[in-house]
Amino acid sequence: MEVIIAKDYEQLSRTGALLIAGQVVRKPHSVLGLATGSTPLGTYRQLVAYYREGLADFSRTQVFNLDEYRGVGGESPCSYQRYMAENLFDHINVSPGNTHIPNGLASDVAAECQRYEQLIKQAGGIDLQLLGLGDNGHIGFNEPNTHFPAATHLVELAPATIAANSRFFTAAAAVPRQAISMGIQTIFQARQIVLLASGASKAKAVKAMLEGPITPAAPASVLQLHSQLTVILDPAAAGLLAGGA
Ligand code: F6R
Repeated sequence: MEVIIAKDYEQLSRTGALLIAGQVVRKPHSVLGLATGSTPLGTYRQLVAYYREGLADFSRTQVFNLDEYRGVGGESPCSYQRYMAENLFDHINVSPGNTHIPNGLASDVAAECQRYEQLIKQAGGIDLQLLGLGDNGHIGFNEPNTHFPAATHLVELAPATIAANSRFFTAAAAVPRQAISMGIQTIFQARQIVLLASGASKAKAVKAMLEGPITPAAPASVLQLHSQLTVILDPAAAGLLAGGA
């Protein structure tokens, strides 16, 4: 495991983007796992810049997103599909057929989860998985729990997640209560994992992830077992670590 404490959000974002661009340069047909939310926005801006400068070519890259809200279609402004289009896919040369997000409108959720797992396997597995970290320690939408959910599955979102994500909706009441998310095993099977966390609201979850016991009550703590994990923090997110930032 490598823990990088960047001097600020800009440096955190550049470091994340360099790791992703490096992966794609090394292996143009890489399979990337990507995240949504506020944290990776700077990384995506930097990746778009690398693409425009001719430094990264995504034409052969495949992308699997971690999750999508249940009951939300790709056209909805709140969907993660729309987020990815607006913040990354529409600005780089990734082929639309090579981008994948769970279908939040699938009528048979169990079949959709199986289909998603199968697609990842057919693609050869994920080379590099980018993660954010919930204030409550979730990765993907694997909420604090009594067990580690293995494969892609339907999630009941925790009240803390609904509250945190209400900023993307008109009101907390408008936030979907469920999502389809890659499971812990799906994430863990990625050959390389890069986790970004920024801001003081993440400090407790960062400490539990890196220094606490490995427990489904702190889902990200399982990443301590991954041999190719890079955690990129800003000083505020690293603030509670032993030795500080
Ligand atoms: C997003 C995801 C979530 C977020 C996490 C942090 O696809 O799966 O785990 O990464 O909730 O979100 P932000 O970055 O908005 O603080």
